[in-house]
Amino acid sequence: MTSQETGTLSSTPRTTDSDESPAPWHDLPAEQQPAWPDGAELRRVVTALRTAPPLVFAGECDQLRSRLAAVARGEAFLLQGGDCAETFEGVSADQVSGKLKTLLQMGMVLTYAGSVPVVKVGRLAGQYAKPRSSATETREGVTLPVYRGDAVNGQAFTDEQRRPDPHRLMRAYHASSATLNLVRAFMTGGYGGLRQLHAWNRDFVRTSPAGRRYEALAREIDHALSFMAACGSEPDERLTNEFYASHEALLLDYEGALTRIDSRTGERYDTSAHMVWIGERTRRLDGAHIAFAASVRNPVGVKLGPSTTPQEVVDLVERLDPAREPGRLTLISRMGAAKVRDRLPALVEKVQATGAQVVWACDPMHGNTFTTASGRKTRRFDDVLDEVRGFFEVHDGLGGYAGGIHVELTGEDVTECVGGGHDILPDQLELRYETACDPRLNRGQALDLAFMVSEVHRASRTRRTARAGARA
Ligand code: PEP
Ligand code: CO
Repeated sequence: MTSQETGTLSSTPRTTDSDESPAPWHDLPAEQQPAWPDGAELRRVVTALRTAPPLVFAGECDQLRSRLAAVARGEAFLLQGGDCAETFEGVSADQVSGKLKTLLQMGMVLTYAGSVPVVKVGRLAGQYAKPRSSATETREGVTLPVYRGDAVNGQAFTDEQRRPDPHRLMRAYHASSATLNLVRAFMTGGYGGLRQLHAWNRDFVRTSPAGRRYEALAREIDHALSFMAACGSEPDERLTNEFYASHEALLLDYEGALTRIDSRTGERYDTSAHMVWIGERTRRLDGAHIAFAASVRNPVGVKLGPSTTPQEVVDLVERLDPAREPGRLTLISRMGAAKVRDRLPALVEKVQATGAQVVWACDPMHGNTFTTASGRKTRRFDDVLDEVRGFFEVHDGLGGYAGGIHVELTGEDVTECVGGGHDILPDQLELRYETACDPRLNRGQALDLAFMVSEVHRASRTRRTARAGARA
C-alpha cells in the first residue's frame, strides 16, 4: 500500500455487476450471522454500502498476493497482527499509531535479527465482527444476545446495546476508512524510519527484563544500520513502507456489499481489506463463508484448529487455490501449544502432496486461551512461545517453511496475557484488562515474541541451508 498504488485510477473497481447477480453463496448455510431485527433496515444499509467507495484497490490486493507468494517460496516472512476485536472507540490516532508502531518494530526485529524481508499485515481497519461460541449471554438471571463485535451490537449488557443494529455496519465501514487513512498517512509520513524504529527497539532492550536477553541481537542491528549508513545505502529495500489491512470475513452482508468487479480484469475483489480470512467456526466446506472466499481474488486465509482433518485441508486447498497460485492461500494453524507437534504434521504433509504453495502461518493465541479462577480469559506467554517453537519444529522436520505468525496484540501496556518479561501474574490481570474480546499481547510481550521468532527463524534457515547443501 504505497502512495503510488493508492492513486492508480486504472485499478479502481466498478461498483455495478455484483449487485445484479445473486451472490455465489446466497443460498448456502451461513454460520455466525446476527439475527438482525429489521430486515428492511439491513437492506437499506447494504444498498448504501454497495455504492460506497472501495476501501482498498484491486491492484493493492494483487501486490499483497505477490508478496505472499515470496513468503510461500520461503523468501519472506508474514507478520500479521492487531486487536482481537477493534472498537469504534479505538479509532484514535494514538491507538492506531501504537499498534502500527508495535508491528513495525516487530517487523524491523524480524528483518534484521531474523534476516528476512517481512510482509506486514494488520488485523485492523475492519476487525469489527466476532464469531461467538454461544448466541446469548446470561448475567444474574438476565439473558441477552451475546456481543458480536462493534459492527453488530454494543458491549454494554443492556437490552438496547445488545440488539443487533444494521447501521453499525455503516459505522464499521467509516471506522475502517478512518483507520486506513491513519495507517496510510503514518506509513508515508516517514514514521517507519529505520533509526526511529531501532531507537524504540533499543529502549525495549535496555529497559525491560525480557529485552535484556536480546542485547547481542540489538547490537547486530546497530552494526547493520551503521554499515548501511557508511555505504550510503539507506533506506534499505528490505524494509519497505508497505503495510496491508486484513480482518476475518465474517459478516457476509458487509463483505458482499464491498465486493466489486475490477474493471481491469472483470474479477471480483472484496474491497473491504487487502486480505480476509475465514475463521475456525465458519470454515465448513459447504458453507457460505468458504464459497464467498472462493469467489474473490484477494489473498485469503483460513484458520485451522486442532480438530481439522487432513482431508478437510486438502478440500480447502482444492476449493480456494484450484489454480495452485503461490500467495493466494494462507493456512493459519491455531492448534495450541500442547497439540501443535501432534496435529500439524499430517496437515502439512497432505498439503505438500497437493503441490500447492501455500503460506503456513502460526496463530499461537487462539489454541491457548483459558479462564482464570476470577473469570478472566487469558493466555500464558510461555504457551504462545512454545506453540511458535512447535510450529517451526514441524515445518523443519518436514522440509517445509514456517512462513509467518498471526498474533493478537496492542501497542498499549495492557495486562491481558500472563507471563512475559514483566511476568504479569494472574492477580494482576485486573490492572489493565481492556480488550473487547480475546486477551492481547502488550507491546513488550509482542517485541519479546519478535526477537524470539527471529532466533528460531535463523536457526531454521541454517538447517534448511545445510540440508540444501547436503543434497547438492
Ligand atoms: C480470531 O482470530 O479472533 C478468532 C476468533 O480466531 P479463530 O477463528 O481461530 O477461533
Ligand atoms: Co481472537
